[in-house]
Parts: sequence; structure tokens; C-alpha cells
Amino acid sequence: MLEDRVRRRLAEWQTAGLLRVLRPPSGFDLSSNDYLNLSTHPLIVERFARAVTREGCGSTGSRLLRGDRAAFAAVERRFAEFKGTERALYFSSGYLANIAVMTTLTESGDVVFSDQQNHASLIDGMRLSAASRVVFPHNDVGALERLMAETPAAGHRFVVVESLFSMDGDFAPLADYAALCRATGASLVVDEAHAVGIYGTRGSGLIEAAGGSPDDIVKMTVWISDRALRPTLNKYWVEMFPDPHSRPARHTVAHGDFTPPMQVQCDILAVIGD
Ligand SMILES: Cc1ncc(COP(=O)(O)O)c(C=O)c1O
Repeated sequence: MLEDRVRRRLAEWQTAGLLRVLRPPSGFDLSSNDYLNLSTHPLIVERFARAVTREGCGSTGSRLLRGDRAAFAAVERRFAEFKGTERALYFSSGYLANIAVMTTLTESGDVVFSDQQNHASLIDGMRLSAASRVVFPHNDVGALERLMAETPAAGHRFVVVESLFSMDGDFAPLADYAALCRATGASLVVDEAHAVGIYGTRGSGLIEAAGGSPDDIVKMTVWISDRALRPTLNKYWVEMFPDPHSRPARHTVAHGDFTPPMQVQCDILAVIGD
């Protein structure tokens, strides 16, 4: 029955050497995402504790219900300034942000061109989306161009990439993608999870480091930050042009994981700015 099936699957994984075991970390940190060591930064730890003491620990509900706080809008404004965009919208994790982006912005008839090495959250978002998906070889602009030319789309076309790839540690040719999207009228979606806080003179990521303002590089910009900040709060940002309150991303409506210490993100941005 079900238990037998699970046991069988576990045994198969064990035999194939694929069974993973969770272990608390020890020794030097050469593999986490705490690139800037923000998880233990004294200012952030202190502000986090203060915010919990003042506001409590739980969100009390989704933002649409009783879970919103004035501080969240302030954080989003601050982050939009940091990234140089019109708006920013926070989600409680990068995973949710990518699912929201891929399901909210796309419609039936759209085609999403996705780099082969994109993160699982982008892939899952595309699977939930009504759009069709075309996977192109990793960082291959020529192949992407060919696939775009030969794939008809009744609706809009999106090119979805990471700016710094989490698995391979290499960079996307963002300027080439931007030029291709400009020429074809497609929208470029860039996941900056591993680049924010690290690249660009202001630390806002590889789009900044590529030398353009976001609006300059792509028409419709959606991206997520940030691996560097994540270990502290596990909050991600998604920036997009549509007003957050008019969009149907269900995570702002049906998910209540927006804890008050999110306002500490302002302090995190200040630390990065320094
Ligand atoms: C490129 C990329 N995007 C999104 C995510 C998901 O982020 P989170 O762990 O906050 O859900 C990850 C996580 O590793 C990632 O590497």
C-alpha cells in the first residue's frame, strides 16, 4: 500500500546513493547563502529582537486581512529606491515570489522561454502557469534567438533567467537578452537571488552592474532578491510595475507569513549601503 510504496522508493534512493540526510552545520561555512554574514550582524540581530518585542511574532493573517503593517510599505518603497524601480513587492520567500511572478504575469497563449538551469521555484511557477514553456540551453543566446523565431505565440513572450546561476555560479548574458527582448517585444524576467547585495556599485545586483537602469535594460522587469539577505529573514522582494493591490497573486491574499520583523529589511539595506 502507500507505506510499501514509500519504503520501496526510499530503498531505491538508498541503493542509488541518493538518500539525503539532514545535519546541523558544523565547521567553516563554505556552502551557505549567508554571503555577507548578515545573519549575525549585530545591528540586524538587535533590530530584529526589538521588532519582535514590539510587534509580536506572528503575521496574524495575510496582508489583505489583518496582516499588513505600515512598515511593510515603507520597506517596499525603500527597496524600490535601492533597485531604481517604480515599485517593489515583498513575498515571504523566494519560492513564493517566483511562483507568484510566473502565475500572475502569464496568461494562456503566452510562451515562456526558460534557461535550462533555472531554479526549481521558477520551474514550478511555470508548471502552474497557463503559458507554455520552451527550455533553452544554458546561457545560449543564439539558441534562444532561434527558438524564439520558430515558436509561435498568440500572446506575450517572456525570457526567464537567473542573473547569477545558483547551481553553476556563472552569469547570464543579461545585455544580450535585453537586446533580444527589446528587438522582439518580449519581457525579461531576472531572478537576482544570488546577486543582490554583492554586485553593482550600490550592491543592487547584476542588472545594475550590467550598466543600465532596470527600465533601460528591459521593458517589464521582475526580479527577486536575495540570497545575501535571506538567511536573516527569509524575505524576498519581487518588483513589478503593476500595483500590488490590483494583482491576483494569491500569496498576498491567502498566505499569512509576513511577520513584523520584516521591517528590519530597511536596516539590512542600510548595512548593504554602508
Ligand atoms: C535562484 C533562486 N531563486 C529562488 C530561490 C528560492 O528562495 P527561498 O529559499 O527564499 O524560497 C532560490 C533558493 O535557493 C534560488 O537559488
